[in-house]
Amino acid sequence: MKIGTPRELFEGEARVAMTPESAKQLQKLGYDCVVKSGAGAKAGFSDATYEAAGVSVVSDAAALWEQSDIIAKVRQPDTTELGYLTADKTLISFFNPAGNEEGMAQAKAKGASVIAMEMVPRISRAQKMDALSSMANIAGYRAVIEAGNNFGRFFTGQITAAGKVPPAKVLVVGAGVAGLAAIGTSTSLGAITYAFDVRPEVAEQVESMGAEFVYLDFEEEQQDGAATGGYASVSSPEFREAQLAKFRELAPEIDIVITTALIPNREAPELWTEDMVKAMKPGSVIVDLAAEKGGNCKLTVADEKIVTDNGVTIIGYTDFPSRMAAQASTLYATNIRHMMTDLTPEKDGQVNHNMEDDVIRGATVTHAGEITFPPPPPKVKAIAAQTKEKPKELTPEEKRAAEVAEFKAQTKQQVTLLAVGAVLLLAVGLVAPASFMQHFIVFVLSVFVGFQVIWGVAHSLHTPLMAVTNAISSIIILGALMQIGSSSFLVILLGALSVFMAGINIFGGFLVTRRMLAMFQKS
Ligand code: NAI
Repeated sequence: MKIGTPRELFEGEARVAMTPESAKQLQKLGYDCVVKSGAGAKAGFSDATYEAAGVSVVSDAAALWEQSDIIAKVRQPDTTELGYLTADKTLISFFNPAGNEEGMAQAKAKGASVIAMEMVPRISRAQKMDALSSMANIAGYRAVIEAGNNFGRFFTGQITAAGKVPPAKVLVVGAGVAGLAAIGTSTSLGAITYAFDVRPEVAEQVESMGAEFVYLDFEEEQQDGAATGGYASVSSPEFREAQLAKFRELAPEIDIVITTALIPNREAPELWTEDMVKAMKPGSVIVDLAAEKGGNCKLTVADEKIVTDNGVTIIGYTDFPSRMAAQASTLYATNIRHMMTDLTPEKDGQVNHNMEDDVIRGATVTHAGEITFPPPPPKVKAIAAQTKEKPKELTPEEKRAAEVAEFKAQTKQQVTLLAVGAVLLLAVGLVAPASFMQHFIVFVLSVFVGFQVIWGVAHSLHTPLMAVTNAISSIIILGALMQIGSSSFLVILLGALSVFMAGINIFGGFLVTRRMLAMFQKS
């Protein structure tokens, strides 16, 4: 079968759905590849590089659609493009099925299969096909770069001969895929980064990336995204008020705000209000990634950059991935290639459209003359939804009873162990000489003490702890020092060697420990 990629018709779109590299992989699956001439030009892939990768280049768009059994593209196809579809063709593209009933009806009438890339379920197995995430990742990164480009200061603080520069303060609202990418980029550029999300489970991720999670002083627990397939649901008015109050408090000191908050299939919630924009310092920047869905800041103008009267720049571009077309095309083409791998289990260049497969079923919006959107929920839970079950809340009495029971069980176990140990020691003592017993008891006690020392320590600290105990265990040095005054040359030599090696152990142990502990310390 043949996979074809047309040139994107959407104005300003620079991405392409097949790169020379992905074409090579598709050929390994048994497919022939074809592209429309100039399809990759804006992303930096010339026709010649496609040809060198074994891809045929055709100059006529209609011919490309006609000869391709599978068409891979980026943007939602227009009616002319959909007109090229036939019953034996499969289209893989962003399709916006929730807002594109006409498109689905047209594809259905043609009997074609359409795989909508935004519908790939967010489950672990499908991550490699998750084009929404790979594009959001780029958008998050680019949002920070764009903000930096419009911000007149450094991100990182500096002390120079010419004066002290304070670090920029960045607030990321919504720590989903785009938000986390923005946090990573912002912290690596050296800005003090704060982040907020309605899903409290992301706080740990935010903090592990070096940013500070903004907690609300709010009695009701922040909402649990797990219940809604890993996505947030609408917050209560009280929660929203608490959130806005916090933002209002932060606004005067924040230099850059990146908003990415979104609830699927809804208008973006207004989170950065006009008065917050007014409270910001001149020169501050807001990048509103949710601009396409109405914006998290209502002053945002989609696809434009505006400067408010008080000198705050608001960027509402909706084409961040396309602004990094080479990177975005590479990632998107890889997503498509993985989708094709799933569609070609035999690697024989033939599509097996298996509607029993969670990912293929989830992403298919028309198939065999039917509209198959919306899909049933996937059998596997969404990634973010796989949270640990909360332990049952216990009353104080129940807690006390559980503690007493645990203490009793532990005591019983320890007494049994002690009794068994004592009997064994006595048994050994009956036959072994007294000098052996002396050493043996010391040995048993040190094993016991060593075990007790290590048992209560967190796993992450085991390695540094072992390094210290290693160093301490170099008590061998004492033995060597006592022997080193001997009259025998061999004993002196062995003693000196032992002192040398134990010395390495002691000093090396402490050095390694210092370095390891430094990894756990915040700079
Ligand atoms: P996502 O669903 O992974 O993340 C959205 C996050 O917002 C979630 O973590 C959610 O909990 C959070 N959120 C929802 N309501 C909130 C509230 N009231 N307060 C705080 N947090 C809230 O979505 P993803 O993939 O990260 O995309 C984020 C946004 O970026 C979307 O609006 C998407 O359309 C947009 N986007 C924009 C692009 C552009 O070029 N401008 C390109 C790609 C994505």
